[in-house]
Amino acid sequence: MPAFKPDQTPAPADSIRGKRVLLLVSGGIASYKSCTLVRRLMDAGCSVRVAMTDSATRFVAPMTFEALSGQAVGTSLWGTGGEDPLDHIQWAREAHAVVVAPATANFLAKMALGLADDLPSTLVTATDVPLLVAPAMNDRMWSNPPNQEHLQVLRSRGVHVVEPGTGFLACGTVAEGRMAEPEEITRAVIDQLAPGPLRGSHVLITGGGTREPIDTVRFIGNRSSGRMGIALAEAARDLGAKVTLLLGPGDLSDPMGVDVHRFETAASLGELVKHHAPSAHMIAMAAAVSDYRVVDPAKQKLKKDDGVPDIQLEASPDILAGLGAARDTGQCLIGFALQTGSDAEVETQASAKLARKHCDLVCGNRADRPGEGFEGDRNRIYLVDRSGHGEWLAPASKRQLSRHIFERAIALFTESPAPTKANRA
Ligand SMILES: Cc1cc2nc3c(=O)[nH]c(=O)nc-3n(C[C@H](O)[C@H](O)[C@H](O)COP(=O)(O)O)c2cc1C
Repeated sequence: MPAFKPDQTPAPADSIRGKRVLLLVSGGIASYKSCTLVRRLMDAGCSVRVAMTDSATRFVAPMTFEALSGQAVGTSLWGTGGEDPLDHIQWAREAHAVVVAPATANFLAKMALGLADDLPSTLVTATDVPLLVAPAMNDRMWSNPPNQEHLQVLRSRGVHVVEPGTGFLACGTVAEGRMAEPEEITRAVIDQLAPGPLRGSHVLITGGGTREPIDTVRFIGNRSSGRMGIALAEAARDLGAKVTLLLGPGDLSDPMGVDVHRFETAASLGELVKHHAPSAHMIAMAAAVSDYRVVDPAKQKLKKDDGVPDIQLEASPDILAGLGAARDTGQCLIGFALQTGSDAEVETQASAKLARKHCDLVCGNRADRPGEGFEGDRNRIYLVDRSGHGEWLAPASKRQLSRHIFERAIALFTESPAPTKANRA
């Protein structure tokens, strides 16, 4: 079993060589800095396509961007120079990252609402690659509540906001709202596109619920949907890991770029874990594994006329405890503990599980509050780790919480030596 060693060194600048960046320029005075941004991104080895709003063309001529990028600049939804209008959507599909710089208050509002009434705003609705915005505006426009609300909406959707700095604004004041420097925006693109601190690590994740057969058509199951497991897999992938996801039954589609294997019973999950765990640097066990299974499931459908069946149960193997007991090389082990009861009970149970199953981190969560635990896209988690640190993470999407969990694991393994059997309590 390999030891988990996060790679915290910044990704080298040339790790985005060959990537395609789509730069959307909206109508702010800072658009002159976007000319330098094109250069910086090209210095890092990217090719850059530029599309401009009508207002942006009043600040910088499209020809300037065309000369700098060496590529045609898009200014109209309806095609220019005989291009097929549909090509413009193609620009969004071809890009590895989309950057809006400068992002005006108007453009941010349109993004938050999903409005698509010109070329750049249409392109931004047609992409699913990392999306970065570099707002630039007067300080009052910046702190205007609707503007801050739009930014919050965008952040919650995973848009990366390259925060503006404080400095001399075009309106003559020194205040917050000045667009981040081109070098900082380029660094943010590198951080988004280059493999993150889980590069070189194999992360094994389980998610979803088990089904223990009673007969050939009935089973003992639970409400786990697999959403937490999928969110963990996507977050680990985005941090640079090679990810294996063991996923229970359900309608959710497999996440992209992840090696997915399906299971039904606790026994089949146990077999898959046995196969994949030895090569994993980190294991996150979010699957809801049945504690009991039917001793001898009927080989045919049980008939109602035969009366109420006498179903004998036995304990299923405890996969998490088995992993905790077996590992001896600093492999990182993350468990989940779903409870009903008060927050205090969740905290106690999560800490007890951490010690009992020899985990590095345990994520306690509640099944008895709306919008938490099973099924939904959001959750609230009590994250406790082997250093004794425990905290409730603010309610958030499962994807955001997953990222937080991995960041905590990375910090834990950077701060304190990985435990082995010898130094484990
Ligand atoms: C001289 C001038 C400078 C401007 N600078 C900014 C700015 O820095 N940030 C901003 O959000 N809007 C700025 N605006 C207002 C935008 O250009 C305006 O809201 C426009 O509708 C934005 O269109 P767009 O988002 O489609 O590019 C400026 C307007 C003018 C006339």
